[in-house]
Amino acid sequence: MQLFSELLSLRDWVRWASTRFRDAELFYGHGTDNDWDEAQVLALWAINQPWQRLEQLWDVRLSSDEKDKLVKAVEKRIIKRCPAAYITGEAWFAGLPFYVNENTLVPRSPIAELIDAQFQPWLSDYPARILDLCTGSGCIGIACAVEFADSEVDLVDISADALHVAKRNIERFDLSSRVQAIESDGLTEVLEQRYDLIVSNPPYVSEAEYAQLPAEYLAEPKLGLTSGNDGFDFVQGLLRQAEQCLLPGGLLVVEVGYGWELFAERYAEYPFFWPEFEHGGCGVFILSREQLVDVHSRLGGQ
Ligand SMILES: C[S@@+](CC[C@H](N)C(=O)[O-])C[C@H]1O[C@@H](n2cnc3c(N)ncnc32)[C@H](O)[C@@H]1O
Repeated sequence: MQLFSELLSLRDWVRWASTRFRDAELFYGHGTDNDWDEAQVLALWAINQPWQRLEQLWDVRLSSDEKDKLVKAVEKRIIKRCPAAYITGEAWFAGLPFYVNENTLVPRSPIAELIDAQFQPWLSDYPARILDLCTGSGCIGIACAVEFADSEVDLVDISADALHVAKRNIERFDLSSRVQAIESDGLTEVLEQRYDLIVSNPPYVSEAEYAQLPAEYLAEPKLGLTSGNDGFDFVQGLLRQAEQCLLPGGLLVVEVGYGWELFAERYAEYPFFWPEFEHGGCGVFILSREQLVDVHSRLGGQ
């Protein structure tokens, strides 16, 4: 630690870490979008202080243990290209702090904005039952449960390891009386259930896109990113099946990401609505159950 004797305050350490990140040309996109904010996240974690106190903390000195913790975290972020959220074990989504680990994607879906707006103007009635399909950490379903305090929410994922994380978050937010985690391949285990709202951020990255992704994304489970060669396998199946699990007046909200224009072209028979997002992101479609039924009756069950 002798080497770092000139670094005294939190300000010094954040400056040092951010310079290391710049030199290493890291990729951001898992909670922050620049080296300075990323350095702040790790420095606050190292001294076990919440970000709300940052302004009061710039001049505090770090203990030897805290310096050691931060130096190791910075090395891990650079050498392994590990997203900061996996180091701190926490990611913010829809204003809520979720526990995360390497078995779940780091939450970042623009769907957070729709949750905040209670899916208005698309959702006509209060959703008594909500399904978060492909839940990962549980972030979307749990944020829905917080927003709709009287709703029951099912969190579905194929990965038992991801559901372990989702269950930890259900406990963290004290929601076990009305939120449950269900292991299921797509809708298979919930086909008998009926929902007012199905929300999903499924895997949708093509194999070609995956091969081009920055190393930070390769730290995330591939199961959470890719779905067949063109990335559309999961969503294609969901479009066919979703109406069965939706109640009359129900809504399907699905993220398909940056390839949304290709997707819209491929499935041109569906009257997708693509909302715009104030805080960034794109590629989320909204369909009503009635629209799904209408398309399927026109297609004659193909
Ligand atoms: C893009 S991640 C989204 C996680 C979380 N909803 C979020 O927004 O951060 C997709 C999730 O889908 C899950 N998944 C992949 N294939 C699935 C399938 N056939 N059935 C259910 N879940 C699946 C993965 O395990 C992963 O957790």
